[in-house]
Amino acid sequence: MSTLWGGRFEQVTDNELFRQFNDSLPFDYRLAEQDVQTSVAWASALHRAGVLTQEEMSRLHGALRQLLRIIHDNPAEILGSGEEDIHSWVESELVKRVGDLGKKLHTGRSRNDQVATDLRLWVETACVQLLAESRSVQRALLQLADDHVDTVFPGYTHLQRAQPLRFAHWCLAYVEMLERDVTRIESVIAHSDQCPLGSGALAGTAYAIDRHKLAKTLGFKEPTRNSLDAVSDRDYVLELLSALSIQMMHLSRMAEDLIFYASGEAGFVQLSDEVTTGSSLMPQKKNPDALELIRGKTGRVYGSMISLFTTLKALPLAYNKDMQEDKEALFAAVESASLCLRMTEKSVLAISVDKERAKVAAQRGYSNATELADYLVGKQVPFREAHHIAGRAVLFAADKKKALEELSLEELQQFHPMIGSDIYPMLALDSCLEKRDVFGGVSRRRVVEALSQAKMRVNGL
Ligand code: ARG
Repeated sequence: MSTLWGGRFEQVTDNELFRQFNDSLPFDYRLAEQDVQTSVAWASALHRAGVLTQEEMSRLHGALRQLLRIIHDNPAEILGSGEEDIHSWVESELVKRVGDLGKKLHTGRSRNDQVATDLRLWVETACVQLLAESRSVQRALLQLADDHVDTVFPGYTHLQRAQPLRFAHWCLAYVEMLERDVTRIESVIAHSDQCPLGSGALAGTAYAIDRHKLAKTLGFKEPTRNSLDAVSDRDYVLELLSALSIQMMHLSRMAEDLIFYASGEAGFVQLSDEVTTGSSLMPQKKNPDALELIRGKTGRVYGSMISLFTTLKALPLAYNKDMQEDKEALFAAVESASLCLRMTEKSVLAISVDKERAKVAAQRGYSNATELADYLVGKQVPFREAHHIAGRAVLFAADKKKALEELSLEELQQFHPMIGSDIYPMLALDSCLEKRDVFGGVSRRRVVEALSQAKMRVNGL
């Protein structure tokens, strides 16, 4: 097979090992559609520059459209072609269809500006898909939140019961994280919205290409401003990999919370059979595999990010073959993140909460000790002292294996004489929740308000 660059070479490269090492078709076939799209625009730009006649341009456009059909109907044919990369495949298919005219298309263009343009288009499409998937996870969480505004749930710090929450509040915490992920992915789209095509190999093209028009034809806001930067820039890939790493960290934390909530020890939620498996040995088991894999796959996405940062570090301008390594990292990360987003949505939609058990757990563990301290503050005891007194009361109650509200008034009064029977309603769960009536807090009114505002944001209203 002939290469795109054979002229200067005396020996034909038929070294199988080198070809395996050097070829990128096995993974950059994913850019086929984008490569055809940029080629159509380039043919038009060459026509406007007087390089191709109208008739030549039309024949190239016709042949490129035929390639789109192969890409959609028979993508395996691309992989089986044995070409070096997707750009070589497109050119060789064109030559098969329109003969020497196919070889004219590369006039004034380099694979360096071509691949940079293809990749930006691919990244944009991937971002659009990831945004839709992120929104779906948010919607699943909002649906769950709708059902659980009044579900009392234990809140933790240090994995120790801290203060009671409404389960809807937990759901909304992850809606917030995903909201930030969405803005990060949106900013990747904004940052990749410049067209490198027409930058040539590194110094610009020698033909009279109207790059502003070319950029518009391909749907970009504007052309890149510096040819040397344009062919060596992969910031937008790094930005996407960083955004996805952060998002995977969020999904992994959510998975971890749910794994714990579904554990035999906690038992606050049940996961559906659809996202769990049994054990080959222990018949009683229902393992949270989907969630564990979401947690587990997070490392792959971090790996892709670190790998590309490392590849680009200290890389001299402009294009170097090292840069071909950008693609596998990007494709793998997008595939993992997309899979994990879809699996998170499925897992969240099928959660059932054991309200009674969650409430009992929220009641235990002295998560109302802060209320006792606050009560004393209300009686003019300085908070630091009130905190100490409440701590002593907890110690006493724990020793008696009782909850604070199960202590008699006399028992409570040993810790401070000003404690009256009005302490009991304050120690009740409902009071713990309702007192936290600040913006962003867990009172019913605040959670209902937060839920309705989140719904508007997520649905773009
Ligand atoms: N397959 C190459 C890549 O993915 C295309 C660019 C090749 N350019 C070059 N001058 N060798 O980066």
